Amino acid sequence: MSERQLIYAANWKMNLGPSDARRYSERFLALTSPIPGRSLWFFPPAVSLSAVSECMQSRADIRVGVQNVHWEAKGAFTGEVSIPMALEAGARAVLAGHSERRQLFGETDEYVARKAKAALNLGVTPVVCVGETLAERDGGRTEAVIVRQLAPVLEALEPPEWNRVVLAYEPVWAIGTGKNATPDDAAQIHELIRLELSHHGVSSRVPILYGGSVNSGNVLSLLARPQLDGVLVGGASLDPEGWAELVGLS
Ligand code: PGA
Repeated sequence: MSERQLIYAANWKMNLGPSDARRYSERFLALTSPIPGRSLWFFPPAVSLSAVSECMQSRADIRVGVQNVHWEAKGAFTGEVSIPMALEAGARAVLAGHSERRQLFGETDEYVARKAKAALNLGVTPVVCVGETLAERDGGRTEAVIVRQLAPVLEALEPPEWNRVVLAYEPVWAIGTGKNATPDDAAQIHELIRLELSHHGVSSRVPILYGGSVNSGNVLSLLARPQLDGVLVGGASLDPEGWAELVGLS
């Protein structure tokens, strides 16, 4: 049987500008060495991409990504970053549809699909995030919300393109709250997502990460579920010592 491949993704959000990002990267590299079957992805703020990708380039197990992009290559889009620009700064992945983008910046399911398609067209891996709010969960609408969020992405991408996509299930009520989904809950939603993909002829091998208050105390019980292919982590990835410890746990 082939070895299980796990992705540990760090989403720094609006933290760590270029100098802090460089210091973090140097410290992290000093603390860690590659672990077979694990790849480490970093999503720094766009202005810190070059610093992180330059520092980390010696490590084949590390990939750098951008937290958000516009789907157009260039033009009059004040404040936006394009995929070719992010590529030039070292990004090989892009987060699309993080709940903070959806909730605070009006990112729609259709925008998410356009970003994912544009990323694939330029050889960048989209990490498409889905997840329900607490009200949606309490109202029994988790499944409907996730199916709705996936629909435009399933429409936009051809089944073979899904071989280059990563999904992240991030329940909104678990993000930054210290209240993670239980391993059972996460595994159940990951299965639901796979079922939805299979209805559209998409391979069951698309990696699905779990995100939402993952820390070094709960990561092993979450990853004990074979339905999880890794984790997407905000708060617990912000200091190099803590993140190095978390990615090294087994
Ligand atoms: P958190 O964030 O780990 O701080 O809950 C996760 C995320 O938003 O990706």
